[in-house]
Amino acid sequence: MIVEIQKIQNLYKSEGFSGLLETVRRILDFKLLQMRRMVSKFLPSQREKKLRNAANKLWANENGSETIKGLSHFKGSGRYKDHEKWEDIGNVHIKMFDRFCEMTNTDSIESMIEYGPGGGANAVKFAPKVSKFYGIDIAKENLKECGCQLEQIGFKNYVPVHIAEPKDCLHIPPVDFFLCVAVYQHFPSKEYGVEVGKIAYDLLKEQGLAIIQIRYAGKYYKPKKRDYRANVITFTSYGLDEFWNILKKIGFEPLYLQLRPETNYAYYFATKGKPHNHH
Ligand SMILES: C[S@@+](CC[C@H](N)C(=O)[O-])C[C@H]1O[C@@H](n2cnc3c(N)ncnc32)[C@H](O)[C@@H]1O
Repeated sequence: MIVEIQKIQNLYKSEGFSGLLETVRRILDFKLLQMRRMVSKFLPSQREKKLRNAANKLWANENGSETIKGLSHFKGSGRYKDHEKWEDIGNVHIKMFDRFCEMTNTDSIESMIEYGPGGGANAVKFAPKVSKFYGIDIAKENLKECGCQLEQIGFKNYVPVHIAEPKDCLHIPPVDFFLCVAVYQHFPSKEYGVEVGKIAYDLLKEQGLAIIQIRYAGKYYKPKKRDYRANVITFTSYGLDEFWNILKKIGFEPLYLQLRPETNYAYYFATKGKPHNHH
């Protein structure tokens, strides 16, 4: 303290009052900048907030646009007027899941989450395998449509979880399997995807399985920063190794990945903790 006072006195002697004021102003500016940086680490930036709101609004589809229903994979909308195409969505993913189970010596699962179930194309294939199916989505109408599809196949244990933010689903008890397909590319930022990855990890039981698909960055797919509506189809993408490392950093054991280059889709097959057959 004494040293500080001496410094101020010296400064006053050499620079005068206005010099002293200038130095204080510079110190305060610097401290303010440091504080802003610290705060921005913990709060989503204004831009991120704007993008999150734009995403919530688009998927809520309040005016019932057929285009958004098609984007949400509703049976009978957009390209899914062709019902076979709609059935294919779930069929492809069930095959991937069965192989994953073989590789991890998993006989059965009791509960699962689908993050972003949309029109329920995966739900109708996966739900018969479990006694509890949680659908987490930012769009109420999509959760409702998924529920209707599940009702049609007679599945009764569907729990829709409507969220505005990823953390809104943290109350769900841990499940055996986490599925997220055709959703990461619609996230408002790469950081948002990391947040969802951490939540997936938290919501899984030990040795739980996760299939997460992303759109990988490349010539035509670069992560976007603005204009959510115009860029919704390819908003967020990661490098293949970048996302692998994100999963590892979260704590997952990524086992392998599968590519569908025609759409720049990459599926990551990861477990929480070492799978049954690994020593
Ligand atoms: C293209 S559809 C995919 C539907 C389904 N997973 C499938 O493969 O058929 C995208 C779904 O993700 C949901 N979604 C978009 N952004 C989301 C977010 N940030 N959090 C949760 N769900 C989101 C949409 O509402 C929609 O239901």
